[in-house]
Amino acid sequence: MGEHIKATHDVVVVGAGGAGIRAAIAAHEEGADAAIVTKLHPVRSHTGSAEGGINAALHEGGTWESHASDTMKGADYLGDAPGVEALCREIPREVIQLEHWGLAFARANDGTVAMRPLAGHSAPRTTYAGAETGHQLLHALYQQLLKRGIQVYDEWYVTRLAVSGEERPEDRTCHGIVAIDIQTGEVACFRARRGVILATGGPGQAYDHTTNAVSCTGDGQAMAYRAGVPLEDMEFVQFHPTTLPSTGVLISEGVRGEGGILYNVEGERFMFEHGYANNDGELASRDVVSRAELTEVNEGRGIEDEYVHLDMRHLGEKRIIDRLENILHLAEDFEGVDALEDPMPVVPGQHFAMGGIETNENGETCISGLYAAGECACVSVHGANRLGGNALPELIVFGKRAGQHAAGTDLGEANIRTGRTTAATTRGDTSTATGGGDTDVAVKTIRRAWESERTRVERLLDGDGGERHETVRRELQTAVSDHLNVFRTDAEIAAVLDVLADCRDRYRDVSVSDPSRTFNTDLVCTLETRNLIDVAEAIALGARARTESRGAHWRVDYPERDDENWLKHTMLSWNDGEPDQWYRPVILEGRVGTYHPKVRQY
Ligand code: FUM
Repeated sequence: MGEHIKATHDVVVVGAGGAGIRAAIAAHEEGADAAIVTKLHPVRSHTGSAEGGINAALHEGGTWESHASDTMKGADYLGDAPGVEALCREIPREVIQLEHWGLAFARANDGTVAMRPLAGHSAPRTTYAGAETGHQLLHALYQQLLKRGIQVYDEWYVTRLAVSGEERPEDRTCHGIVAIDIQTGEVACFRARRGVILATGGPGQAYDHTTNAVSCTGDGQAMAYRAGVPLEDMEFVQFHPTTLPSTGVLISEGVRGEGGILYNVEGERFMFEHGYANNDGELASRDVVSRAELTEVNEGRGIEDEYVHLDMRHLGEKRIIDRLENILHLAEDFEGVDALEDPMPVVPGQHFAMGGIETNENGETCISGLYAAGECACVSVHGANRLGGNALPELIVFGKRAGQHAAGTDLGEANIRTGRTTAATTRGDTSTATGGGDTDVAVKTIRRAWESERTRVERLLDGDGGERHETVRRELQTAVSDHLNVFRTDAEIAAVLDVLADCRDRYRDVSVSDPSRTFNTDLVCTLETRNLIDVAEAIALGARARTESRGAHWRVDYPERDDENWLKHTMLSWNDGEPDQWYRPVILEGRVGTYHPKVRQY
C-alpha cells in the first residue's frame, strides 16, 4: 500500500489525554482495532494536571437534572441542552466505572465517594482525589489501555489530516493522518478505515500566562479548521481566578471549595465586601471571580498592584494535608510560599477553551470519518463559561461516545443542529461511522497529504528564511495575553488582529535552525506555532464579532448580555484562509424542558 503508510487501523485517535484514551478504550470494546498517535508519552498528557475533580450526581439528593441546570446557568445559557443533558446523565455511570478501574476517589466518613463543592454549583457534587484528580484519572486510564494491549504510537507529532478534496466540507471524508516520528524525523501516515478522533486538548499556549502545558498548542483545532470543519465559540476563553503570578501554575478551585478565602490589600473579603457575589462569594463562577480580582487590582486594591491573596491557613494542617496536599507543594515549589504559614498570591490566568471543533454528541464533525472529543471539541456543553469539575466529565463522556460511534455503534439520534454545515443534519446517517472505506480513494488522499506535508517539513528544514518561530510565538502570546484577556474592547481586539496578521506574514519566512532529524524540537515547535496563529486568529475574530458580554467574554464597550441578538454560536470556517463567520442558534430545549435564560447571579 505504500511505504509512507506506517500502519492501518479501524480507528486512529490523535492524543492520549483523558478523551483520547477513553475513546480508544471504547472503540476497542466495540470490537474495533483502535490505536493512539500522540506527540507525548500518554502519562505526560495535560489531563494529568487537572486538580479539582469530576462532577457527577452520584448520591441521593443530587440529581443529574440539577447538575444540568447549574451547567446551563454557568454557561450563561450558551450551552446546547442536548449535549449538557447527555454529559450530566452519563457521567455518574462513568465515575463508577473509573472507580472500578482503580481511580482512588476520596471517601466520606460513611465510606461513600466524597463530594466537594466547586464554584457555580448549587450543591457539592465534585468527586476528587486530593488536588490531583487528573493525575489519578490519567494513570487509571493508562493502565486500562495497557491491559487491553491497545497500540500507542508515542512521540509521533500529527501535522495534517488526510481529507478528500471535495468542494463542500460536508462532502469530504477523512481517511487518516500524517505525522512526524519525533525520534527519527520520518514523515509517515496512519490510515483509518473507520474514523480519526481528534483529542488533542486546548490552545492555552496562545497565552503567555496559562495553566496549560507547553504541549497545548491547538493542533487538532487548527488541523480540523484547515480541513474544513468550523470552529465554534472560540471567543470564550476561561480565565481561572487562582493561578500563581510568576508561572501560571494552577491553584485548584478545591481550595475555595474547602473554604479558602480571597483578600485584597486592605484585608477585605472583597467578593462579599465589594458586592461581587453576595450569596456565593469565593464560590461564584470563575468568570465572576476573575473579573472581581482584576477590578480590585485595577482600582488600586491589589497587592503590589498585581495580585490578591488566597488564604487557606484557617482550614488547619490536617484538613489541608488530607484534601489539598498537592497545593502546598505547588505554592512552595513555584512561588516559594509556605501556604500553611502565609496566604498565596493569585491572579487570573488562561485555563480552558470553551469553544473548539464543532461536533455533535457523538463526536462527529461535518467531515465524514472525522471526530473530535475533549477540550479541542465544542459539543457544546460549556457555552460561555465552564463550571469547575465539568472538564473531566466531558473528556470521559464524549471521548467514550466518539470511540463507540467511530467503531460503528448506533448511539441513536444525535443533536440535530440547525444551520449550515452541521454534522448530524448534513451527514444524514448518524448511526454508523463513515470514515475512509474506499481503498483507492483513501490511498490517493493519503498520498497527496503525505507529499504535501513532506514538502512542508523539508522546506522548513532546508530553508534559509531569516525568521525564528519563537520570536513569532512570543509576539503572538504577548499580544493575545495583553489584549484578549478578561476585559476586552474593539480597539484592543483590532490590535491583536494586526499583530496576528504580521505574525502570519513573518511565519512565511520562518525556518528551522537545527538540521537534525532526531528529536528536533525546533521543528515540532515551529509547526505548532503555525497552529497557534490560526487558533489565536479564530479567538480574536469571534471576540470582535460578539458585541455583548456573556460568561467569560466581557466586552467593556458592550457590558450587557444581549439575548435578543446573541443567543447564538459564533462559527468560523477556514474558507481557504479567508475566514468566513456565521452563526448557529443555541439549543435551549432539552429532554427535561427548556432552559430559559435568567439573570445570572451568584
Ligand atoms: O481549579 C481546579 O481544580 C480546576 C478544575 C477544573 O478546571 O475543572
